[in-house]
Amino acid sequence: MRQMLGALIACCHFELALAARSGRQCKAVPGTTSWPSASAWDALNTTLSGHLIAPTPPGAVCHPDQPSYNNATCAVVADLWMKSWAFHSEDPVSVAENNWSNDSCLPGPQYPCSGVGYPVYVVNASKPEHVQAGVNFARENNVRLIVKGTGHDFRGRTAAPNSLSIWTRYLRGLIYHESYQTCRCLSPQDPNAYNGPAVTAAAGENLGAAFALAKQHGSMIIVGSSASVGVGGFLTGGGQSLMSSRKGLAADAVLEVSVVLPSGGIITANACQNPDIFWAVRGGGGSTFGVILNFTVKAFLSEPVSSLQFGFQSPTLNDDKFWEAMTYMATQFTILGNSGVTAFASLALGNSTSPSTFAGVFQGANQSAAQTAAIMQPLADHFNSSYGSDIQSQITDVKEYTSYYDWFLAQQGETNTPLGIDLALASRILDEKALNHPNFAALIKKAAVPAGVAFNGVAGPGTHAYPSDFNAASPAWRTGYIHAIVGTFWPPFDQAAKAAAIEILTYNTTGALRELAPDTGSYLNEANSYEPNFQQAFWGSNYPRLLAIKRAIDPGDVFWCQACAGSEQWEVTNGVLCHV
Ligand SMILES: Cc1cc2nc3c(=O)[nH]c(=O)nc-3n(C[C@H](O)[C@H](O)[C@H](O)COP(=O)(O)OP(=O)(O)OC[C@H]3O[C@@H](n4cnc5c(N)ncnc54)[C@H](O)[C@@H]3O)c2cc1C
Ligand SMILES: *[C@@H]1O[C@H](CO)[C@@H](O)[C@H](O)[C@H]1NC(C)=O
Ligand SMILES: *[C@@H]1O[C@H](CO)[C@@H](O)[C@H](O)[C@H]1NC(C)=O
Ligand SMILES: *[C@@H]1O[C@H](CO)[C@@H](O)[C@H](O)[C@H]1NC(C)=O
Ligand SMILES: *[C@@H]1O[C@H](CO)[C@@H](O)[C@H](O)[C@H]1NC(C)=O
Ligand SMILES: *[C@@H]1O[C@H](CO)[C@@H](O)[C@H](O)[C@H]1NC(C)=O
Ligand SMILES: *[C@@H]1O[C@H](CO)[C@@H](O)[C@H](O)[C@H]1NC(C)=O
Ligand SMILES: *[C@@H]1O[C@H](CO)[C@@H](O)[C@H](O)[C@H]1NC(C)=O
Ligand SMILES: *[C@@H]1O[C@H](CO)[C@@H](O)[C@H](O)[C@H]1NC(C)=O
Ligand SMILES: *[C@@H]1O[C@H](CO)[C@@H](O)[C@H](O)[C@H]1NC(C)=O
Ligand SMILES: *[C@@H]1O[C@H](CO)[C@@H](O)[C@H](O)[C@H]1NC(C)=O
Repeated sequence: MRQMLGALIACCHFELALAARSGRQCKAVPGTTSWPSASAWDALNTTLSGHLIAPTPPGAVCHPDQPSYNNATCAVVADLWMKSWAFHSEDPVSVAENNWSNDSCLPGPQYPCSGVGYPVYVVNASKPEHVQAGVNFARENNVRLIVKGTGHDFRGRTAAPNSLSIWTRYLRGLIYHESYQTCRCLSPQDPNAYNGPAVTAAAGENLGAAFALAKQHGSMIIVGSSASVGVGGFLTGGGQSLMSSRKGLAADAVLEVSVVLPSGGIITANACQNPDIFWAVRGGGGSTFGVILNFTVKAFLSEPVSSLQFGFQSPTLNDDKFWEAMTYMATQFTILGNSGVTAFASLALGNSTSPSTFAGVFQGANQSAAQTAAIMQPLADHFNSSYGSDIQSQITDVKEYTSYYDWFLAQQGETNTPLGIDLALASRILDEKALNHPNFAALIKKAAVPAGVAFNGVAGPGTHAYPSDFNAASPAWRTGYIHAIVGTFWPPFDQAAKAAAIEILTYNTTGALRELAPDTGSYLNEANSYEPNFQQAFWGSNYPRLLAIKRAIDPGDVFWCQACAGSEQWEVTNGVLCHV
C-alpha cells in the first residue's frame, strides 16, 4: 500500500510539473533559460576540483576554422580514427562509430565540424565524489546525462548533444582477492553463493587490464574478444565470451558492484544488499540504473585452450551444395557447444565469380589440439563424403595455448570490427530449434545481405546452467547456442543511403533472423537501437521486473538512453530530449 501511495504521489507531482509548463517537458538546452548559468557550471567545476572539461571535438584538428586546427595532428587523428579503439577510449568524448556523434566533426577538412554531436561538458571523474557531483548537478538542473567509458558502444549511448557526460576512464584500480565470499546470508545451494578468488575492477579499467591481473595469479576472468573493451558496458550489458558456453555470461560471474544511484547516493549491491539493483545491473544495460564505480567478479582457475581454423566453400560455385553444407553446419553447433568447442565464425555471401564461404576460429576449452581436431574432423569428413569436390573444407592453424590468456593476447588485433565509419549492428541469439529450422538456408541467406552473418558460438551449457531470471540478461542466453550478428554501414551525410540501410537491417536482415528464432532475443550491446519491440528482444520475460526497478530508483529519468530499459517516456527531437 505504501508503495502504491508513493507511486501515486510521484505520478501527480509529475502531472503538475507538466501542467505548469506550456508544451512538452524537455531536458535543458544551451542558449535558453533552461540551461544552467556559467556561474553554476563554474561552481560545479569548483566542487570537482577543476575536473570539468569543455570538450573539443577530436576531429576539429582537421578543420581550419576550429581553434584546435593543426594539419600535422590531423593526419595522425585521421589515421587513428579508423584503426585505434584506444584513441577513442583516451579522448573525453570521442566515440568509435561515427553515427553516434552524428558525423558532426569527422577528421577531414571536406566535412563540416561543430561540437553539436558531443556533450557540452564532461566530468573527468577520478574519484567517486566526482561522479556524485555530476549526477547531482544533472538531476538538480534537468540536464541530460550520459556516461562514457571507452566509447566502444555500438548503440550510441556514449555521445549526445546538449548533455553532461561522466567520463569514467580515470576511475582506476584493480584488486585480486585470493578468497572472496559473497554475503553470508546465502545458503551454499544458492546460485549466487560463492567463496573463491575474485577480481575487483574500477569502472575505468578495461578487460585486458583486469585479465592481466588475474593471469598473474593463475586465474582467468570472463572477457570478450577485445582487450580494449571496458568493464562498464561489457558487464552491465551481459558480456558474452568464448568462455561463456562453459562458464556463463560475464554478468553471471559478477559478485558485487558499487553504484552511484540517480539520487547521488553510493550503495553496494550484491545478492544480499540491494538485491534488486544487483539483479538489474547484471544484463539490464549501461547508463540506466546509475554509474557503477567498481565490479567484483569471480575468477576461475586458468585453463589451457586449443584453437584451429575451420571453414568450407564450394570451389565449383555450386550454391545449392554450399547451402546444404551450411544447413548441416548449423545443426552441429549444439553438439560442438556441448563438447566444449566454441567459435567466432562468419558466413560471407559469394557472387557469380566468387564462392560463398563459412570460416572462423574454433576453440577447445581445456582441450589439447588433438582433442579439438578430433571433434572437428567428422565435419570435414562429412562434407568430403557427402559432396566430394563440390565442398572443400579445411582444418588449419591447429594450435595449443597454455592459457586462455595467451590465446586472448595472440588474437588481439585480429577482430575486424570496423571503426570510424557509420555503422549499425543487429543481433539475434539462435537456439537449438533455430539451428535446426526447416527453412534455415533460405532465412540465413536473407540475413546475410549485405554484410554476412557472424556466428559466435558463445552460449551453451555454461549459460544454460542459470535460471532465466538469475539476472536481467536476456533469457535467450539460457537456451541459445549461437549469437548471430549482422550489420550495415553507409556513407556519411547520405541520408537516403542511411535510411535504406537501416530499413534493410531492421526489417529484411534481422526480420529473417527473427523468423528463424522467434522465441529468443537479441544481445543488447551488439544490437540495433531501432530493434522493434526492443524490450522483448533485449530482456524478454525479465522486462517487467527491470522496468519496475528503473522506475523505483530513477523516477525522474536522470539516466536515459535510446532503447534502454524504461526509455519509453522520452524521445530525441532535433537533438533535444523531451517527454513523449
Ligand atoms: C572491438 C570490440 C569487441 C567486442 N567484443 C565483445 C565481446 O567479445 N563480447 C561482448 O559481450 N561484447 C563485445 N563488444 C561489445 C561491448 O560489450 C560493448 O560495446 C560495450 O558496451 C562496451 O563497453 P565499454 O564500457 O567499453 O563502452 P562504452 O561505450 O563506454 O559504454 C557502453 C555503455 O555502457 C555504459 N557504461 C559504461 N561504463 C559505465 C559505468 N561505469 N556505469 C554505468 N554505465 C556505464 C555507457 O553509458 C554505455 O551505455 C565488443 C565491442 C568492440 C568495440
Ligand atoms: C575547470 O577548472 C580547471 C582548473 O581551474 C580549468 O583548467 C578548466 O578549464 C575549468 N573547466 C571549465 C569547463 O571551465
Ligand atoms: C596538410 O598535411 C598534408 C599531409 O598530411 C599535406 O599533404 C598538406 O599539404 C598539408 N596542408 C597544409 C595546408 O599544410
Ligand atoms: C544516428 O545517430 C543519431 C543521433 O546522432 C540518431 O538519432 C540515429 O538514431 C542514429 N542512427 C542510427 C542508424 O542508429
Ligand atoms: C582527467 O583526469 C586525469 C586524472 O586527474 C588526468 O590525468 C587527465 O589529464 C585528465 N584528462 C583531461 C582531458 O583533462
Ligand atoms: C568499490 O567502490 C566503493 C565506493 O567507492 C568503495 O567503498 C569500495 O572499497 C570499492 N571496492 C574495492 C574492492 O575497491
Ligand atoms: C565477387 O566477389 C569478389 C570477392 O568479394 C569481388 O572481388 C568481385 O568483384 C565480385 N564480382 C562481382 C561480379 O560482383
Ligand atoms: C581440464 O582437463 C583436465 C584433464 O583432462 C581435468 O582434470 C580438469 O578437471 C579439467 N578442468 C576443468 C575446469 O574442466
Ligand atoms: C576426401 O576423400 C577422399 C577420398 O574419399 C580422400 O582422398 C581425401 O583425402 C579426402 N579429403 C579430405 C580433406 O579429407
Ligand atoms: C526488403 O523487404 C521488402 C519487403 O519484404 C522487399 O520489398 C525488399 O525488396 C527487400 N529489400 C532487399 C534489399 O532485399
Ligand atoms: C544530426 O545532424 C543533422 C544534420 O546533419 C540534423 O538535421 C539532425 O537533427 C541531427 N540529429 C541529432 C540527433 O542531433
